[in-house]
Amino acid sequence: MPHIVFEDKKEIQFPKKVDDIEFIFEAVSKHESKILTKVGELEFLLSKKEKSSKDGRCLHILKSDKATRPSKAYVIKKALTAFVDTYGVEPTFSNINNLKDYTKQSNTYLKEIDYFTNDFNTTKEVWVEIGFGSGRHLLHQAKKNPDILIIGLEIHTPSIEQVLRQIELQEIENVLILNYDARLFLEFLNSNSVGKIFVHFPVPWEKKPHRRVYSKEFVDEALRVLALNGTLELRSDSKEYFDFSLGILTDLTQCHIEIDINKDLEISSKYEDRWKKLGKNIYDLTLTNNILSPSSQNESSFEFDSIDINGLQEKLPTKSLVKDDYFVHFEKLYTITANSVLVEVTFGSFNKPLSKFILIENSKARYLQGNPLITKANTKAHKTINEILKND
Ligand SMILES: C[S@@+](CC[C@H](N)C(=O)[O-])C[C@H]1O[C@@H](n2cnc3c(N)ncnc32)[C@H](O)[C@@H]1O
Repeated sequence: MPHIVFEDKKEIQFPKKVDDIEFIFEAVSKHESKILTKVGELEFLLSKKEKSSKDGRCLHILKSDKATRPSKAYVIKKALTAFVDTYGVEPTFSNINNLKDYTKQSNTYLKEIDYFTNDFNTTKEVWVEIGFGSGRHLLHQAKKNPDILIIGLEIHTPSIEQVLRQIELQEIENVLILNYDARLFLEFLNSNSVGKIFVHFPVPWEKKPHRRVYSKEFVDEALRVLALNGTLELRSDSKEYFDFSLGILTDLTQCHIEIDINKDLEISSKYEDRWKKLGKNIYDLTLTNNILSPSSQNESSFEFDSIDINGLQEKLPTKSLVKDDYFVHFEKLYTITANSVLVEVTFGSFNKPLSKFILIENSKARYLQGNPLITKANTKAHKTINEILKND
């Protein structure tokens, strides 16, 4: 991680702008501050923390703040270099000189979640594969069904890189890959828009069942996005996972369930080969959707009411607010001026908590780096945050 260590000898003034780099303000809390920085159009925070030194000097470490960190290390290097030049600080340590202007090559088939919230639009039938691992099944289905668009979800980066290489080598064009938690992804798809969802050999999480892909909420979302006669297909070697999933499905009325043991598929995955060699049973649980779902109401407002920052610190709950399907935790308040503060807050879904900064200036508030993704959990959490922050 690019960072510098320097002795804080002189007062540092804000704002300062040099070329396309701007240091806008410093927001201060105990032992730590955040510097709002802009490189071109990109807005992020630099984090400045006290660092103990053996000879009693007042040293500070300056690096990119984790929650707002730009994806390209080069941008952080540029900001740190400009900080050194602009304020004339003399680093006692720096690891920014050997960073190259490396901008990761974009890949047509690798998408960010924003693509699915803003731009995703297709006339093709969509299938989704969750946790594709080595990608054998995903690639097989994509080649066999060129008219289908297959979205592959995975959270293991080496598997994603390996499958992206195969997509290129095999010249497959009907696949989109996303590094995102499958438990939360279906929320971004339109109702009745998916033909098949494959969940093959999900991690059984025997000791932590709450981490399983299958849950009542997941199955409800799957039923909403599945088209009429669309299927949700579980294949697993874990009898416990199979029983657990069956337990969720048997309460449902709008679908048909089919169970198989040791069914042969056209393609066998790495995991399947391993379990077959060990002579283990393989269970299939297929749910077919029988109803049309109403379109999802994912409209959301992330606006804030007017906020009085006087006494705000005392108003912020010190404990996490935990509800059934979301939480809010106020981390820290940073002071900028008499009229402005920065509030660090973690919130949203338990499976994918979001860390954001809220900038409040002259009673008006906004999320730094834009609004949160529109999800049910984020929308509910925002309402709670606004209720706490707003004027009584
Ligand atoms: C046991 S492997 C099975 C891989 C592949 N489906 C197969 O049959 O060989 C489970 C895969 O699911 C991925 N995974 C686990 N939890 C996930 C989640 N919440 N969202 C997306 N992928 C997940 C893991 O990274 C892993 O690659």
